Amino acid sequence: MNLQEYLTENRRTVDKALDEMLPAEDNEPTLLHQAMRYSVFAGGKRLRPILAMTAAEIVSGDGECVMPLAVALECIHTYSLIHDDLPAMDDDDVRRGKPTAHKVFGEAVAILAGDSLLTFAFGVLAGPGSIRIYRPDRLLATIGELAVAAGPEELIGGQFLDIMSENKPVEAQTVERIMLSKTAALISASLTCGARLAGGCEEEIRILGRYGKMLGSAFQMKDDLLDLEGDAAKLGKAVKKDHEHGKATYPKLLGKSKTKDMMRELIDLALDVIRPFGARAAILADIGRYVVERVH
Ligand code: IPE
Ligand code: IPE
Ligand code: MG
Ligand code: MG
Ligand code: MG
Repeated sequence: MNLQEYLTENRRTVDKALDEMLPAEDNEPTLLHQAMRYSVFAGGKRLRPILAMTAAEIVSGDGECVMPLAVALECIHTYSLIHDDLPAMDDDDVRRGKPTAHKVFGEAVAILAGDSLLTFAFGVLAGPGSIRIYRPDRLLATIGELAVAAGPEELIGGQFLDIMSENKPVEAQTVERIMLSKTAALISASLTCGARLAGGCEEEIRILGRYGKMLGSAFQMKDDLLDLEGDAAKLGKAVKKDHEHGKATYPKLLGKSKTKDMMRELIDLALDVIRPFGARAAILADIGRYVVERVH
């Protein structure tokens, strides 16, 4: 199967699981549930859930054994986007090709829809469906790892530093910390949690974690480059906003060309890291190459 077919097929599997697990729109309070579903189903590449499935497949041969985790990851990611777009944060009007949640539902409902998706994610992962199928030690470790990745040391800490660094002289160390925490932590956790829940050994989890950090950093470099030279219609979000907000990014620090060189070098190094998996990691390597070539 080529990468595009793999992504399309897995995106479909993830969307079906999301649809089955998310509360229905007519559940009370209906507006809150509508807002949650609006942002989740507005679009999105489903990269994080797909990475969890890919990791599970590498270590166990079965990618679909981690669907509760896949759903949780996409809910956490979508919540982070809803809050990232708020007027108090990046103040964006378009996301996934549609008006942002606060534009459609108002700020209060958007904030609460984000809160709901975050808590719902952990509810799914710790819920009866998961408890029945996963080994308790693996499930508990997964939940703990995901909480750290989504929390103040990682995703939230990165978002905090991103906002606090706006319009300040930019330093490489700060850019590095922002990328690693706001983006690479959840991407890396998608792989490590996917592998852990599927019964991977510590060495496999360690390798996937290293790859995930590198992949996640390259992913954010590409996101920052796309802000400068991407197509808003293809991206489904506004472009040329980072400069306006004085965001601390590699393109700002080094320029586009050096950022591209760094990003490609990083992916080459990342591909070396997963070489021990051999042919089992062919798709994961393709995802790495795709992340730096993508146009949305
Ligand atoms: C956007 O993530 C936010 C970043 C971490 C750069 P994605 O580019 O994965 O967004 P969707 O899920 O495809 O909309
Ligand atoms: C957002 O980074 C990262 C998270 C939401 C955790 P960006 O602010 O660069 O993402 P976009 O460009 O709005 O998608
Ligand atoms: Mg942001
Ligand atoms: Mg943003
Ligand atoms: Mg961006």
